[in-house]
Amino acid sequence: MSIYFDNAATTPISQEAKTAMVAAMENFGNPSSTHAEGRKAKAIVETVRKGIASRLNCSPSEITFTGGGTEADNWALISAVKDCGVKHLYTSVIEHHAVSHVVEYLDQNGMCKVQYIPHDDHGIHDLKWLELELKSKALLGEKAMVSLMHANNEIGNIIDLQNLSELCQSHGAYLHSDTVQTMAHLPLDFSKIRVDFAACSGHKFHGPKGVGFAFVRQGVLSKPLIRGGAQERGARAGTENVIGIAGLGAAFNMCVDDMANDILKVTGVKNYAILKLKSEFPEIKFNGLSGDVEKSLYTVLNFYHHKLHENGMLNFQLDINGVHCSGGSACSSGAVGGSHVLNALNSSGGTRISFSRYTTKSEVDLFVQILQKIKSDI
Ligand SMILES: Cc1ncc(COP(=O)(O)O)c(C=O)c1O
Repeated sequence: MSIYFDNAATTPISQEAKTAMVAAMENFGNPSSTHAEGRKAKAIVETVRKGIASRLNCSPSEITFTGGGTEADNWALISAVKDCGVKHLYTSVIEHHAVSHVVEYLDQNGMCKVQYIPHDDHGIHDLKWLELELKSKALLGEKAMVSLMHANNEIGNIIDLQNLSELCQSHGAYLHSDTVQTMAHLPLDFSKIRVDFAACSGHKFHGPKGVGFAFVRQGVLSKPLIRGGAQERGARAGTENVIGIAGLGAAFNMCVDDMANDILKVTGVKNYAILKLKSEFPEIKFNGLSGDVEKSLYTVLNFYHHKLHENGMLNFQLDINGVHCSGGSACSSGAVGGSHVLNALNSSGGTRISFSRYTTKSEVDLFVQILQKIKSDI
């Protein structure tokens, strides 16, 4: 028996992505070659780029393929500071390490000044504080950028990106958003949401790992992070990962085109899990806003129960019972001191269960039964 409840870490690859990848393997040409074999591979890359751009309502030239979400985040933050002249970076301590460790690097090397937006114990940011800060930097004529993730990968909190983009725009500040957890999961229209930089990772929506893309708004100065050949219109050197891009494209199109159904179905599963957990374990608490389906991502639920979490062994016990979930971000699962997100919320701990279009209510039933058994054995 195996229940996969760790879809915020990675998702199972879809049949659609596999089919597209196998087809792309037949086109072994180098997309930079001008002969027919090269042109066939190039056509795969450009068709995927166009498909993504039309679904995000942006220009294909604003999409650059990368080696995943981490690279897209690194590129945005480093470009903003080095190329756009950003002197003040406003971010949050609950960002993914793909952002927070880059920001720390920029700060420690004196490349910009980083300030952390205050938040409460639910992870809600103080935007009034941010507004005053942006206003003061605009008055001084100093360039600022805000970097806030669209949805938090551990607690699911969603920010109002439209509202934040208007706030940044009205004070002349750049905006970067780590949209890794929401790309192909929530509607994103970049003609309305005025982010300057956004990030995407293929493996978060049933595509392959090690491939993603960066959105960089037209007119925003951005020099390559990876230097070498002239691939990606000179924005990112290195022969394109044609097979990965083909898989990413198929998964992206599938998830965006079926989004309304997926939202309905997975929100139903999440709601069911919340109700079931509350009724079986009345003292259960949900970290951040994850217990509120209106304000959190439908794929993420993070719970804490004093008895179940007492001995710190819950994730291990779940794993040996066939349930695969996590205590936080998979990239930091070896880290000492637990989740930096839960620590920042003064939470006593938690377990993240995260769903996908393939999760069923009967898996939730089984999961709750396993939790009851673990509790009765404590
Ligand atoms: C919010 C967030 N940002 C960035 C990343 C990194 O993406 P990738 O694994 O493609 O480098 C992840 C993946 O764990 C994530 O959840």
